[in-house]
Amino acid sequence: MNDQSGYASGFGWAQGKYSAQPHVKTPEGTYEEEFGRRGFFGRTTHLYHRHPPTGWLRIEGPLKPHAYVVTNLEGGNEGQPEYFLENSDVRLGIAKLAAAMGVFVRNGDADELRFIHAGDGVVETDFGDINYRKGDYIILPRGTTYRFVPHQPNIQLVVESNSEFEFPDRGMLGRHAQFDPMIMRTPLLPSGPRTTGKNSRGEYELRIKREGQFTSVFYPFHPMDIAGWKGDLTALAINVDDIRPIISPRYHLPPSVHTTFVARNFVVCSFLPRPLESEEGAMKVPFYHRNIDFDEVLFYHDGNFFSREGISAGAVTWHPQGIHHGPHPNAEKNASDKEFTAEIAVMVDTRYPLRATKSAEQVEHKDYAMSWRADQAR
Ligand SMILES: [Fe+2]
Repeated sequence: MNDQSGYASGFGWAQGKYSAQPHVKTPEGTYEEEFGRRGFFGRTTHLYHRHPPTGWLRIEGPLKPHAYVVTNLEGGNEGQPEYFLENSDVRLGIAKLAAAMGVFVRNGDADELRFIHAGDGVVETDFGDINYRKGDYIILPRGTTYRFVPHQPNIQLVVESNSEFEFPDRGMLGRHAQFDPMIMRTPLLPSGPRTTGKNSRGEYELRIKREGQFTSVFYPFHPMDIAGWKGDLTALAINVDDIRPIISPRYHLPPSVHTTFVARNFVVCSFLPRPLESEEGAMKVPFYHRNIDFDEVLFYHDGNFFSREGISAGAVTWHPQGIHHGPHPNAEKNASDKEFTAEIAVMVDTRYPLRATKSAEQVEHKDYAMSWRADQAR
C-alpha cells in the first residue's frame, strides 16, 4: 500500500511514517497534524511531526494564539455587548445585565445569537416572550424589537452576524440528528397588551442600531403591541441540554460534527458532554492543525477543559489562521483514562481573519501562547 515509491493507493501521495487511518494508531513517537483546506472538508495531508508543533521557544510578531478572560469585561449598557473580536461578517461580545433593560432595542445591523453563560430571565420580543436560562442559545433575527428582563444577573456571549443564522446540512445523519428544529422554543404572546418598560416621562423608548449608531424613537404606546402573528421568521431558543452530540467510539470526529448554526463566512459549534473514544488507539484529544482557512474562537462555558490547561469557564481562546494549535502536553495524558468529557464550550470559526478590540487587550491572558511550552516534559 505504501511501498510504491511515494504513491499511496487511491487519490493522494504518501511518504515515510504515517497512519493509513488518520486519528487512529498514530505512529510511535510522532504527533499528527491535519493540514487541510476548507475546515475539515477539503484536500488534506496528515503530517507526522517528530515534535509537537506547538513546542516553540518564543514568538516574535503579531501572529500568535490568544486567550482572554472575557467575562471580566464590563459588558455594555442596556444589554448591548462590549465587543472583543470582530471582522466584516461577525462581531463577538459580552453583555452583562443586572436588571431589566430600561429601553427597547432593535438591531438594524445584524442578526443576534446570544448564549446565556450565567443567569436567567425572560426576553420580550415582538413575537412574545421567551423564558431563558443558563446554557440557552437565543436567536433574535435582525430587526426584532427586544427587551431582556433578567431574574438573576446575566452574562451573555453575543454573536452579531451580518447574515442570517441557519441550520447546518446534516447530510447522512438525517434531519433530526443533534436536535429536531421543531424543539426550538418560540416566543409566546402575552395574554393582554403589554404595559411595562416606560421611562420616567411615561414614554416608551426604542433604540434602533444602524451602522453601529443608536437612534431613539419615542412612543406613546408600547412598541411591542402585536395582537397576533403568523410566519416562519421569529425569535428562537434552544438549550444545550437539548442538543445531542454526534460521537464515534472508534474515531475522533472533526469539530464540524458539532456545528449548531451556520451563517455567511462563519459557523457556531457546541462542544457538549459526551463519551470519549473508547477503542484502544483511537485519538481522544484534538489533532494539531494550523487553521489554514478559518480563525477559531472557543468560549468556555462549563466543565473541566482538560485539553486546554489553564483555561477556565468564562475564558475565550482565539487561534488565528496560520499558526498551530492542538492539545496541551498534559491533555493527552489526562484524557487517556477518561471515558467522558463534561465540557461545554461554544466555538465560532470564521472564514476571514478576526481582529481583537481594545477591550480584548485589557482582559488578555498574556502568557497563553507559551502555555504549550510550560509543561513540555512528557
Ligand atoms: Fe482547532
